[in-house]
Amino acid sequence: MKRDSFGSRFGALVAMAGSAVGLGNLWRFPYLVGENGGAAFIIVYILMSFLVCLPIFICEFVVGRRSQKNAYSAFRDLSGGSWWKYVGVMTVVVPLIVTSYYSVVGGWSVEYLFKSLTFSFTHSESQAAMSTMFGDFVSSPWGPLVCHTLFLAVTAFIVAAGIKGGIEKFSKVMMPMLFVIVLSIAIYSITLPGSKNGLEYLFHPDFSKIDAKTCAAALGQAFFSLSIGFGTIMTYASYVSKKENIMFQSTATALSDLAFALIAGIAIMPAVFAFGLNPQSGPGLVFETLPYVFSQMPAGGVVAVLFFIALLVAAITSSISMFEVGVAYLVEEKKLSRAAACVIVFMLCWVLGALCSLSFGPLSDVKIFGRTVFDFFDNLSSNILMTLGSLLTVLFVGWRLKKTDIYDEFTNGGTLSTNVKIFGVLWFLIRYVAPIAVAAVFVTGLIK
Ligand code: PHE
Repeated sequence: MKRDSFGSRFGALVAMAGSAVGLGNLWRFPYLVGENGGAAFIIVYILMSFLVCLPIFICEFVVGRRSQKNAYSAFRDLSGGSWWKYVGVMTVVVPLIVTSYYSVVGGWSVEYLFKSLTFSFTHSESQAAMSTMFGDFVSSPWGPLVCHTLFLAVTAFIVAAGIKGGIEKFSKVMMPMLFVIVLSIAIYSITLPGSKNGLEYLFHPDFSKIDAKTCAAALGQAFFSLSIGFGTIMTYASYVSKKENIMFQSTATALSDLAFALIAGIAIMPAVFAFGLNPQSGPGLVFETLPYVFSQMPAGGVVAVLFFIALLVAAITSSISMFEVGVAYLVEEKKLSRAAACVIVFMLCWVLGALCSLSFGPLSDVKIFGRTVFDFFDNLSSNILMTLGSLLTVLFVGWRLKKTDIYDEFTNGGTLSTNVKIFGVLWFLIRYVAPIAVAAVFVTGLIK
């Protein structure tokens, strides 16, 4: 049977950008920037993204497209069957864990979209009331579980429809829409009186805050945001035509990811400051502070609906990319039909996700190494497994595979003249800069 593939350059691009642009951009980036020195952090983040993460992204791209296989088989076949195949196993297992807890948060955005459509936060008196609303919701057993199920089911349906007919089609419509929505909210946000403080919070450079820890935070965020470190980009790349330019596709994805992160910051922070509030981290910012902001701003009801649509779309285009990793493996290695593979991945992620979801309520006393299930999964994957996956991938390409093969894949057999010219620099980044930077962050993360 012929392997499915992306039907167009634009399709492949929006699918990859869809994977990259997600919850990481909309809730984590804006907060991290404010906390860690504003523009100074952005500069470090950009350097990390382009000097360390982009080369790793390209490594994943090369491995995926060269092998035209799922992530496990890619490692196994390209390494000639050595122990590297266990790295392949890891790249298939980790996305299952991430999809599970990602789907729980995706589920919350389903609920909040519903809440905004039913005007649940239009006349709220205080931010504290919003915090109570959120706390009550996540700690209740059924609501979040139903939302998690819905979110995961939509993800599974899109993936089941195939690469061209499902993932590409969905991303082609949704990504431009997402861009328009986030940009419109950003423009509206900076016209609010008092929004300047928010811009200052984001962009005032404070270089005194830059130290090893901030650099590690910037790199960690860049890994997560670019979806590198486990088989996602590798799997998507295996569906990209041999005619495409890897450098172009990778850089365009990294640039869109950065643009989305910055625009999301401009959409969120000025509005938060315009109403005299302080930004909180993660869930608090998106599900407690922002609903209160929406309840206070003119036309806030509409903005709320738009924002939660954006959050949901961003989350789905990312979750489908992680979901596909396991599905591709089951279809190619276990010879299952796409539909059957989707059902199995759905069930695995559903059970793990349900544990995460319940860890905010009924299972809050269950601790793994002192953390709730949700926190444990989140920490394990973002702080340890993603970094380790990125390190192993870059070592695999830089030190295990043949330089001539990488050159051949990256330059399309020597036919792309710009890629031919920059290959030397890229190779240096892949062999030395990226592994050293990632190893340093990995160690810092373990010590922390
Ligand atoms: N990049 C996504 C985000 O920013 C998360 C993600 C990580 C998606 C890894 C796929 C793989 O939210």
